[in-house]
Amino acid sequence: MSVHPVAAKIVDEYRENYPASRERHQRLVNYIPGGATRSLSYFKPWPIHIDYGKGAHVYTHEGHKLLDVTNAYGALVHGHGDPDVVAAVQAGIARGSQYSTPTDGQYHLAKLLCDRVPGFDKVRFLNSGTEATMFALRTARAITGKDKIVKMAGGFHGTHDCVAASTKKNVITAGIPAGMTEDMLEVPFNDPDALEKMVTRHAADLAAVIMEPFLGAGGVVLPEPGFVQKARDITTAHGVLLIFDEIFSFRVDIGGCQNRYGVIPDLTTVGKVVGGGLPIGVLGGKAEFMNIYCHENTEKPLYHSGTFNGYETVMQAGFAAMSKFDAQAVAAINAKGDNFQEGLLARIAANGLNIQSNQIGSLVNMHFVNQPTTRAEHVLASEEELHTLMHLSLLNKKIFNIPRGLFILSTVITDDEMAMFLEKIDDTLKELLPLIREKYSHLLL
Ligand SMILES: Cc1ncc(COP(=O)(O)O)c(C=O)c1O
Repeated sequence: MSVHPVAAKIVDEYRENYPASRERHQRLVNYIPGGATRSLSYFKPWPIHIDYGKGAHVYTHEGHKLLDVTNAYGALVHGHGDPDVVAAVQAGIARGSQYSTPTDGQYHLAKLLCDRVPGFDKVRFLNSGTEATMFALRTARAITGKDKIVKMAGGFHGTHDCVAASTKKNVITAGIPAGMTEDMLEVPFNDPDALEKMVTRHAADLAAVIMEPFLGAGGVVLPEPGFVQKARDITTAHGVLLIFDEIFSFRVDIGGCQNRYGVIPDLTTVGKVVGGGLPIGVLGGKAEFMNIYCHENTEKPLYHSGTFNGYETVMQAGFAAMSKFDAQAVAAINAKGDNFQEGLLARIAANGLNIQSNQIGSLVNMHFVNQPTTRAEHVLASEEELHTLMHLSLLNKKIFNIPRGLFILSTVITDDEMAMFLEKIDDTLKELLPLIREKYSHLLL
C-alpha cells in the first residue's frame, strides 16, 4: 500500500529530528528486547530517548526541549524535579531509605491519605498500581469467601493475570492461564442494566465489582449521570464489595474521584501521583475490611508482605508531593484542563472536524471517532493511523505526548505554554486534514 504524502512527511521529519535517539535505540536493542522495557514506550520508527527533565519540560539527547504533556503517564503532577520532592528525597535518602520496620514516613503519608479520601479509614502500602489491585481482589475474596469479580470492559487495572486479559484490543493474553480469568466477569461501562443483571445473577458467588470511576487508560470515558451511584447501590443491595481503582483518577480531586462524585466504595486503590513520581501502590478502605490485615487482634491476618513495602524515601517523596497538591493546586490544575478542553473543541470545530475530546480535570483524551465516546468500544474504533501520525507530528513540534491522544497536565505548565500547545495541536490537525479528507471523510463535519 502506498504511503500518503502527509504520513511520509511526518515520519521523515521525525527521522530527521531524532537521530541521537535512533543511535541509542540501536544500542539498547542489543540488551533490552525491542529497545523498551515497557510495552507502551515503544513506537515506530524508534522511541525518543530522554536525557533529563525539568519542570514542565524534558530534554532529549538531540538537545530538543519538549513540553511534557505525558507526565510519566500520570505519575508526576508537579512536573520534573519538583524542588520540594527533590529536597525530601535527598534529605531522606541520606539518612537511610529502608529498614523493613514501620516508620514516620508511613505514618505521615497514611494519615494524609486517610484524612483526604472518604473511602480510606486505613491503608497498606505496596510498590505499584498492579500490586495494589491484585491485593484489592484478594482482600475482597478473603473477606467474602467468594471468588467471582465483575470488571468493566475497557477498565484498566494493571498487568497481573486476573485483570490483564481483557483490557485492550492489542493486549496479548498468552501466558495467562485460563483458570486466572474464569472468575472474572465483564460488563460494559455506562450500562447500568447490564451491571444490575450481572450482579444479581452472580450475587451468591460474587466477591466484588472493581471499576475506575471513569475509564482512564480506556480513553477518559466519563460515567453517565447515576452510573457510579448505581454501582454503589447494586453492590450494597447484594452484599458485594465495591472497589474503586483510583490509581489514575485520584488526581482529579483532593480526595480522589469518589470525593468529587460523592460515592464511597468499600476498598480503593491509588498510586501514581501519590508517590511523588517514585514507585507506589496503595490499598485502602473501610476499617472493618482493612482490619483483615490487622496483626494485633485478628487470629489469622491476611498475609501481605514485600521487600519494598512502605519504602521510606517513597513515603517522603509522596508526602512532599501530596502536601503541596492541596485544594488550591487541584482547582488550578483542573481549571487548566477545563480551559484547554474549551479551546480544543473550538479548534476541532474550526477545522471542520467531527472528532471527540473527553476531559476531566487535568486529563484530556482526543479520539478520532465521529460519535460521543461513552463506551470502551467507541474508543477502540478511533482511527489508529491518525493517532500514530498526530503523536509523531506533535513530537516534531516539540510536544512530548502519549501516542493514543491522551494528554496529562502538570501544576507547573504555564498558561502561555498551554496556549502554545493548543496552537501546535491546531497546526497538527491542519497538517492531517488532506489525509482525513481523502481517507477518513467520516470524520468531517
Ligand atoms: C486505573 C489504573 N489501575 C492500575 C494501573 C497499574 O498501575 P502500575 O502501572 O503502577 O502497575 C494503572 C496504570 O496506568 C491505572 O491507570
